[in-house]
Amino acid sequence: IKERTLIAVKPDAVQRRLVGEIIKRFEQRGFQLVGLKMLQASDKLLSQHYVSLQRKAFYSSLLYYMTSGPVVAMVWEGPNVVRSSRLMVGDTDPATAAPGTIRGDYCLHISRNVVHASDSVEGAQREISLWFHPSELVDWDVCD
Ligand code: CMP
Repeated sequence: IKERTLIAVKPDAVQRRLVGEIIKRFEQRGFQLVGLKMLQASDKLLSQHYVSLQRKAFYSSLLYYMTSGPVVAMVWEGPNVVRSSRLMVGDTDPATAAPGTIRGDYCLHISRNVVHASDSVEGAQREISLWFHPSELVDWDVCD
């Protein structure tokens, strides 16, 4: 079953030149890149993306962080990509993210945790439609 997820390289990781490293891990695993762009995320986009966090104490600092520089948004496709990518990214809190995961290898603070990964298939569909126009997603077949 073809599944898709939204992975976003957050501003701290772009600043730290981690874009290639993060793309490499998803390619190496065998997932297929079907959408990719760099953008300065707007408050409007982020308020929709993080709608479920609007009442959290850290919400305004989260938006400040996410607008502090460009983000690299990607859509990755493959079997169980939503669940697998959450495992590859690691726990939200870097303190408990396992070594070998992206967060476990590259960060220390929950408020600068390097990368976003959708947390469910439904969430991924919602987020992909917020970040990408359908015409920006490319269907391509893997050659044998
Ligand atoms: P992510 O799981 O990608 O999406 C929600 C984000 O909110 C999360 O990453 C963190 O960047 C941020 N976040 C979650 N909990 C906290 C917290 N306690 N303090 C600061 N930021 C947080």
